Amino acid sequence: MTNLFQKDFWWGASSSAFQIEGGWNEDGKGKTVADFNSFKRSHLQADSKVASDFYHHWDEDIDLMKELGMKTYRFSISWARIIPDGDGKVNQKGIDFYNKVIDKLIEYDIIPFITLYHFDLPYALVEKYNGWEARDCAYAFERYAKICFENFGDRVKYWVIHNEQNLMMRIDERMNICETDPLKKEKIRAQMDYHMFLAHALATNACHEAVENGKIGPAVSSTVTYPYTNKPEDVWAARMNNQFKTDYCLDFHFNGEYPGYYMEYLKEQNIVPKMEDRDAEIMKAAKMDFIALNYYRTLTARYLPATQEHKKGERVEGFNEVDYDMYGYWKIEKNVNLKASEYGAQIDPVGLRIVLNEYWNRYHLPLIITENGLGTADVLTSDNKVHDEYRIDYLRNHIRAIRESLADGVNVFGYCPWSFMDLLSSHQGFKKRYGLVYVDRTDDDLKELKRIKKDSFYWYQKVIQSNGADLA
Ligand code: BG6
Repeated sequence: MTNLFQKDFWWGASSSAFQIEGGWNEDGKGKTVADFNSFKRSHLQADSKVASDFYHHWDEDIDLMKELGMKTYRFSISWARIIPDGDGKVNQKGIDFYNKVIDKLIEYDIIPFITLYHFDLPYALVEKYNGWEARDCAYAFERYAKICFENFGDRVKYWVIHNEQNLMMRIDERMNICETDPLKKEKIRAQMDYHMFLAHALATNACHEAVENGKIGPAVSSTVTYPYTNKPEDVWAARMNNQFKTDYCLDFHFNGEYPGYYMEYLKEQNIVPKMEDRDAEIMKAAKMDFIALNYYRTLTARYLPATQEHKKGERVEGFNEVDYDMYGYWKIEKNVNLKASEYGAQIDPVGLRIVLNEYWNRYHLPLIITENGLGTADVLTSDNKVHDEYRIDYLRNHIRAIRESLADGVNVFGYCPWSFMDLLSSHQGFKKRYGLVYVDRTDDDLKELKRIKKDSFYWYQKVIQSNGADLA
């Protein structure tokens, strides 16, 4: 069989600033919302103060990336390291840090692929005007993006704007939504979402202006929702779950406006965000160059009718906020045909093929997978090895699905598993690990933070060397 992966396919790996860097207040860095949230759990698990300590181990870590053979490294810049209070003075030491990282990657022919915002809004902006609730936040983001383009754009050509706006938006803690009245809460959420769309468009336009040959796009949290039965209303419910949790976001980026089904919901709920006349032009001009997608699992849904007590568009209380159910739309069900990780993620490589085909057919933009991986507890053996064949299995089956998508004619140009090294998981600290490289620390004990290559590291090294031909 001919190898379908193009010669310069971007084999890479991913991470994000607050989950790996540590050095949370070093060299002038400001506190972020991600720090604030992680400190709330410091008594229970690891927090972002040290995380994987990339801030002090970056040199050795990039040596490992070279050894692995990575063609690209997808990582994020911490906004508060560059501008500690979000919209004030620029911190040269933050710029110096990322310059060192970028230069070393380039020296090793590893393409730096940078996310501007991965859940870590500078906390000072929350104190000032509750972050994304204010339109000013979009302009603060635009300024931050421009500073990054000016300082790094000579060497960094590929940019992701927001990591998972569509998922972040559902999690009150990440957005700092403290309102408890359900209607007011949804109004705030919708306004924040809109300001993030505006920020996305402003940054896209700025990149195209400032970065020669610059390419920019979103990273969405993607999934497929299967209908629980073949009843037409269940099929519709599954479609709506997908549209409301992912597609509306891509549709907005693509068309520069809300898709009809979403606008109808906003109107029905009386939560249409405030917009300004000049926004339409900004949004329409902002053309994304690619779509980055984070893919872990699929969902299944059936129709959930509205009732006398619960009107259409009301969220069901008490279920997890990431996969929430909504009256008049859908209810999430378990898919008995799929195995799930110990944390409940239903593992489904075929779903990745479906997603890639759908996005390609709908948007016709190049696609890159920026996250995909298995989060679980790894065991370090007495001779310092990690035998993570379960992770190898997961990655192998998903790479096969990419190969099948390439055969379907989909344009996929890269694959970056989550994550390059073990990092801070938001709710499970270091108990849940995703890395190809083991970081020897626990939630309670920092130890020496030694880096240990897992079996999956050696396996992925062969995959890269053979350009995806050898998955054994
Ligand atoms: C993605 C995020 O949604 O999921 C990552 O972009 C995150 O930041 C990953 O780590 C896995 O989630 P979790 O909760 O298992 O860490």
